[in-house]
Amino acid sequence: MFNLAYMKQIILDILKAGVRAPSGDNSQPWRFEIKDNVIFIYNLPEKDNPIFNYKQRGSHIAHGALIENIVIAATEKGYKALVVLFPHGAESDCVAQVTLEQTLVVKDPLFSFIFTRAINRKPYRQVLLSSEQKNSIFETTKEIGSGRIILVDDMNAVKKLGKDFSINEIVMLENRDLHNYFFSDVRWTDEEEQREKTGLYAKTMELKPPQLAVFKLLSHWRINTLLCKLGIARFIAKENAKGYGTGTIGAIIMEDESPESYIRAGRIMQRVWLKAAQMHFGFHPITGVVYMMMRIRDNRNEVLSDVHVNLLRKAYHDIEAQLGITSGELTITFRIGDGGEPSGYSSRLEPRVEYIT
Ligand SMILES: Cc1cc2nc3c(=O)[nH]c(=O)nc-3n(C[C@H](O)[C@H](O)[C@H](O)COP(=O)(O)O)c2cc1C
Repeated sequence: MFNLAYMKQIILDILKAGVRAPSGDNSQPWRFEIKDNVIFIYNLPEKDNPIFNYKQRGSHIAHGALIENIVIAATEKGYKALVVLFPHGAESDCVAQVTLEQTLVVKDPLFSFIFTRAINRKPYRQVLLSSEQKNSIFETTKEIGSGRIILVDDMNAVKKLGKDFSINEIVMLENRDLHNYFFSDVRWTDEEEQREKTGLYAKTMELKPPQLAVFKLLSHWRINTLLCKLGIARFIAKENAKGYGTGTIGAIIMEDESPESYIRAGRIMQRVWLKAAQMHFGFHPITGVVYMMMRIRDNRNEVLSDVHVNLLRKAYHDIEAQLGITSGELTITFRIGDGGEPSGYSSRLEPRVEYIT
């Protein structure tokens, strides 16, 4: 007999695990409609940074991570989650319909890591992944049923990739629109973070107190412009490149650029991130250059200067070369490695749920 109150509680528990998923600047671009044992997942297109989130691709990756958490958490409750992507077509904000079926399922051992997984932006020690660990990560594409993972741990290539990724900082500090979007998302204090429960929590940025003070100064556009003239953006990029160029660099390549592929890439990313947590490794998506290039490639750049476009093109071409990408869609870049404990953990909003009949 179908017990509605019981099902509501099961779904709420599953969604609480679901929303532990990562999203660009912790934007949490989702809401849910529930009908009996079916969850409809909706994207909130205005939530993430509109310049980086070209064609909602960043949000679709986040939705993939959310769906993967839901599928894993369902097994913990004894349910199989049947996922249909874009049940009302790819133009719709309804990204997925998830039906829960009570059946004999094997509990997914990654479940507990849903709650311990977090971004780790620290520099990573030069401890390489063993071939067994790499194979477990490569296996993820088979578990999801599509995509390809690249891992690079040659020290020279990793260092070069670190420099390429850091070009993001130059563009972000020197471009007024990007600067404004970025700093409006920062949550400077614990109180602010607890109140908003979204946005970029300063504690997770792993800045030393003097760096944090400079960073606060840079949030004022006029001071930032003055300091950029003295070369601060390039200095920060150079410093950040040192941290980015540590550990193992990875990428997820999909067959095409469809929204479905981006969601599947998000599912792959989340499983890899959970496996990294299980292996006591840190994980850090670094996406700025790749995401800004998506606009440039489609001639949809409205805000970037020619100088910045040239810098981004050069960095992007080197990223492709270092990762050996010759075909397919580069959906996300990240690094994995031994970084110790992160200094802070981002909060989450309660799942926004509506019951429909
Ligand atoms: C699509 C996507 C892109 C992201 N890009 C970056 C990035 O370029 N740099 C970065 O430091 N973090 C990036 N993140 C990580 C988020 O900022 C982070 O997941 C979020 O703040 C929540 O923190 P948590 O993962 O610890 O829960 C990205 C996450 C996603 C899902």
